[in-house]
This record gives sequence, C-alpha cells and structure tokens, in this order.
Amino acid sequence: MALRHDLGAYDIVFIGSPTWNQALSSPVRGFMQRSQARLANVALFATCAGRGADQVLAQMGELLPEPPLATLGMLENDVRHGAAVRVGELVEAALEAWNRKQPTSERTTGTRA
Ligand SMILES: Cc1cc2nc3c(=O)[nH]c(=O)nc-3n(C[C@H](O)[C@H](O)[C@H](O)COP(=O)(O)O)c2cc1C
Repeated sequence: MALRHDLGAYDIVFIGSPTWNQALSSPVRGFMQRSQARLANVALFATCAGRGADQVLAQMGELLPEPPLATLGMLENDVRHGAAVRVGELVEAALEAWNRKQPTSERTTGTRA
C-alpha cells in the first residue's frame, strides 16, 4: 500500500508497534522494510501486554540505517495510565537527539515557545 505522506518531508518520524509473539508485528516490519531508505531520523516505541517490547525495539532498530534517536517500551497498563507522560518523554528525548545532530547554527532551543 502506498504511503499518503512523504517520510522525507518530516524531521523526525515516530514508529510504533505492538508485540506479537515476543516479536515485531508483521505489518510494521513490512512498513519499515519498504521504507528503510527514508528512515534516517526515527524514534521508536513498542507496546506489549507483559513482555517482549524490548525485543521489538531491538528488531526495529535492526531495520534502521542508523540508530534510533530515542526508544520507549510500554506495557498495556502504562498505555492506559500515564501514556501522555511517557510519550512526552520520548518526544523530548527524540528532539534532543535530533538537535544534537544538527549543525550548531541550526539548533533549536526546544519545544516550548
Ligand atoms: C497475535 C498477538 C500476539 C501477541 N503477543 C504478545 C507477546 O508475545 N507478549 C506480550 O506481552 N503481548 C503480546 N500481545 C499483546 C499485544 O502486544 C498488546 O495487546 C499490544 O501491545 C497493544 O497494542 P494494540 O492495541 O495495538 O494491539 C499479543 C497480541 C496479539 C494480537
């Protein structure tokens, strides 16, 4: 299926997957394999019911041309209670890592105005 958005138009792309049988879900694996060349600045997150999110993050990382800017593994319970905080931390970490990769003159001071 063709993407509706050009991944190259975004500074950072966030990719998430559920854990399926302790592994990366097949739809997200397929998406990442098809998009590999355009996945330069990526932050990863994975959810699971009990365990497996760390393996999923590692498998996703192997499909990237360079290490992810930031990663987040979450239990379903985390998603229900406090997801906004965890996701906010992921966004902050990704922005900081992205910023460090920019030439000094182009760095931004953060997400807050
Ligand atoms: C086919 C399938 C396999 C799953 N395997 C695992 C597993 O190995 N470990 C685990 O903790 N959760 C497992 N889960 C639970 C999902 O990871 C969990 O429901 C998901 O992270 C929540 O995201 P979702 O709402 O997008 O499904 C599985 C779910 C499905 C449907």
